[in-house]
Amino acid sequence: MDTYDVAIIPGDGIGPAVTEAALSVLDHLGEMHGFALERSTYDWGTERYLETGSMMPDDGLERLESTDAIFLGAVGHPDVPDHVTLNGLLLPIRKGFDQYVCKRPNVLYEGIESPLRGYSNGDIDLVVYRENTEGEYANIGGREHRGFDHEVAVQSAVFTRSGTERIVRRAFEAADRRDGRLTSITKSNAQAHSMVFWDDVVDEVSEEFANVAVDRLLVDRASMDLVRRPESFDVLVASNLFGDIITDIAGIVTGSLGLAPSGNINPDGTYPSMYEPVHGSAYDIVGENCANPLASVLTGAMLLDDLVGGAVGETLRDGVESLLADPNAPKTPDLGGSASTDDVVAALIDRL
Ligand code: NAD
Ligand code: IPM
Ligand code: MN
Repeated sequence: MDTYDVAIIPGDGIGPAVTEAALSVLDHLGEMHGFALERSTYDWGTERYLETGSMMPDDGLERLESTDAIFLGAVGHPDVPDHVTLNGLLLPIRKGFDQYVCKRPNVLYEGIESPLRGYSNGDIDLVVYRENTEGEYANIGGREHRGFDHEVAVQSAVFTRSGTERIVRRAFEAADRRDGRLTSITKSNAQAHSMVFWDDVVDEVSEEFANVAVDRLLVDRASMDLVRRPESFDVLVASNLFGDIITDIAGIVTGSLGLAPSGNINPDGTYPSMYEPVHGSAYDIVGENCANPLASVLTGAMLLDDLVGGAVGETLRDGVESLLADPNAPKTPDLGGSASTDDVVAALIDRL
């Protein structure tokens, strides 16, 4: 039997519930398909911060480095500012393990009602390649003269040639494998340095991909088109911040953030990749046993694609798809149902 070491970080809010739910599905699949995930579970998160003053131990990254993959729930807590918790756990892992591809696929599944009128079964099927280590998320800047009228805050965006080229190239490769269409999202009309540089890099890399047609959209217009005609998109590539924003839009037009998976991928394999749903800790529904576990389950399918290979990830996606298409199967409230997290997991395991 093939075994894989997976570090589990359930984190905050609904993170533990959806993570446990997804892991029970992955364990079940492992029994059926002859693989096992050897889990090491870490209690890193805001409860730990409130007790010890840090989200994870100082040697946190060293402890994770030799693992095959990381599976994370969510980070963020109402009692501690988000910039403290996120910069103490999630963002240092993305950057420290050079997980430069944030891959976020969205499909409008049969049986799911989009908030957009007239869209159904398969009409939306896109994937966002989000730059994940630099751009607007660079931790470069500062704040000075606090409290004075001349107080100043500087947060610099950082766009490097290597950092931009590598995410753009991965997106072109994905477009080449899919429909041969790539949409590059920028704000080149206002940001004449970084975003025009991004456009130049897209032009250069496009020379390597004769079969891929490139569209360029400004991020405001792209946000509108994700609502107006989401079917026009296939592969999108965007900077860190723009990618963050458009993936919440892509998540909701395909039904719910409760269905949106994500992978923070180090494609070179130098470091482990980290898989986590797009959604956050969702404190508005914590403790109600109603969080949709399927974003985490579909995130697990992405982990299986990369770690186990073969068709097992697809088998899991097929199971989710068939569950969603069944009008009698349980659905959580975000999808208009009244089922619990546990009901959905049990029904999915039955179906697999
Ligand atoms: P959120 O994604 O937690 O929630 C947005 C909305 O979607 C809420 O109404 C929530 O109930 C709903 N939702 C999200 N996931 C759901 C699920 N699985 N099932 C059903 N409904 C679901 O976004 P937010 O409210 O902006 O952020 C809450 C906290 O999470 C903040 O602290 C934020 O910083 C953090 N956050 C963390 C991550 C992460 O760890 N990857 C991602 C996004 C936000
Ligand atoms: C996401 C989240 C994070 C991000 C936050 C929590 C820092 O919104 O994964 O989409 O902006 O990347
Ligand atoms: Mn986000």
